[in-house]
Amino acid sequence: MSSEFSTDQINYLIERDAEVLLHPVASIEALLQQGPTMTVSGEGSQVVDAAGHTLLDAVGGLWCVNAGYRRRELSQAMADASQKLAYYHTFGNATNPWQVALADRLLAIAPPTLGKVFFGSGGSDANDSLIKIAWHYHAIRGDSERVKIIARDQAYHGTSIATASLTGLPSFHRGFPLPLNFVRRVSCPHYYLFGLQGETEEDYCDRLVSELETMIIREGPETIAAFIAEPIMGAGGVIDPPVNYFPKVQAVLKKYGILLIADEVVCGFGRTGSWFASTQMGIEPDMMATAKGLTSGYFPMSAAFISDAIWQTLLAGAGEFGGFYHGYTYSGHPTGAAVALANIDILESECLVDNARDVGDYLHRKLRDDILCHPHVGEIRGRGLLAGIQLVVDKDTKTFPEIADKWPAQVSSRARELGVIVRPLATVGSIAISPPLIFTRDDVDTLVNAVMQSLEVLG
Ligand SMILES: Cc1ncc(COP(=O)(O)O)c(C=O)c1O
Repeated sequence: MSSEFSTDQINYLIERDAEVLLHPVASIEALLQQGPTMTVSGEGSQVVDAAGHTLLDAVGGLWCVNAGYRRRELSQAMADASQKLAYYHTFGNATNPWQVALADRLLAIAPPTLGKVFFGSGGSDANDSLIKIAWHYHAIRGDSERVKIIARDQAYHGTSIATASLTGLPSFHRGFPLPLNFVRRVSCPHYYLFGLQGETEEDYCDRLVSELETMIIREGPETIAAFIAEPIMGAGGVIDPPVNYFPKVQAVLKKYGILLIADEVVCGFGRTGSWFASTQMGIEPDMMATAKGLTSGYFPMSAAFISDAIWQTLLAGAGEFGGFYHGYTYSGHPTGAAVALANIDILESECLVDNARDVGDYLHRKLRDDILCHPHVGEIRGRGLLAGIQLVVDKDTKTFPEIADKWPAQVSSRARELGVIVRPLATVGSIAISPPLIFTRDDVDTLVNAVMQSLEVLG
């Protein structure tokens, strides 16, 4: 079968979908009732569905198509690398030119605390790798009791057994024997929702930091390996913490020898208006997970970063522990590394990180001016081209919609009918926006108009 499908073939494949596929993160019932939504092509910030509708993709696929769709430079880079060397492993001493060039390039833009890169295939495995490296680091230092990882309510770190355990959204645990017991949980830093009456944002922040320190002391610092956090939470509702949250959290972690893992799988590669949100938010990560925007979603690839200090420890332990026994068949894949290099070229040459900041400011202004006044919109959150719209039943009491009422799904379905894709975050009553970084002010106008009209479905 060629890569072009006829209309008859497409219609047949839509019918076959539910017969042959188990969809990721999906309601099986909804799939059976409504059928799949099939996407057949994309260009710029738009995708085309099987019925021929052109849709403005204000989600960038799944928070990842930073350079936009159908970038010839990216397809060409993949074709060139794969024709030259379709695959060769990177275990042991093996390497290839693309992964070295990419690591070099990444370290030049990464937060300065970071000094080495480990490649994988996606965000979950990047976080898995970093957790294992944190354990290994402590074991080498004689602290093998340090196995607990602190994560936050509403966090999303992936769906592997370990990362689903770290994810703080109960739907990812229900029906599985999860979370595993190495995870400890602290509050999600959401002032709008959890700030007490009369409590300033700074006082709220101090309360969170004190909760963290109390938990560390209660558990015993000698049992805790790392704290993992998205700089801005994505799937948990696009939650931007209080300004001093991370510097204060990091001071506590340092005091007790606990490593900080920044999960930049969504925030990285320009989305928030700087290469990495850590730099913007006063985070000096010991480790950092990235994926998605690394290749703009064109190839499944992740880059997990570690600090020089961690590297020095791994080196010191090399004699006792032998090799570093962790890695994947596709670590440092030539095609993935080649497309990531070309993707960074585009982000740089087209100043897309600056564009994310400028157009992002415009987006947030428009959302605040045009949408925040709606009786069912409680808060607009995020920064750069990453935004969350909090739906509320009642603004004064900040009552969230019932999950069963499916408000986010209703709004996003209506927006889709109007030609715009936004992402419903069902369990947190929110709508997420994370368009390609090539988004223009006109695109923002189209998006905000569609969201405004879509909110009418809530009555
Ligand atoms: C912050 C964050 N971390 C990790 C992941 C997991 O990435 P993947 O789905 O590539 O495993 C995601 C995915 O959305 C994410 O948003």
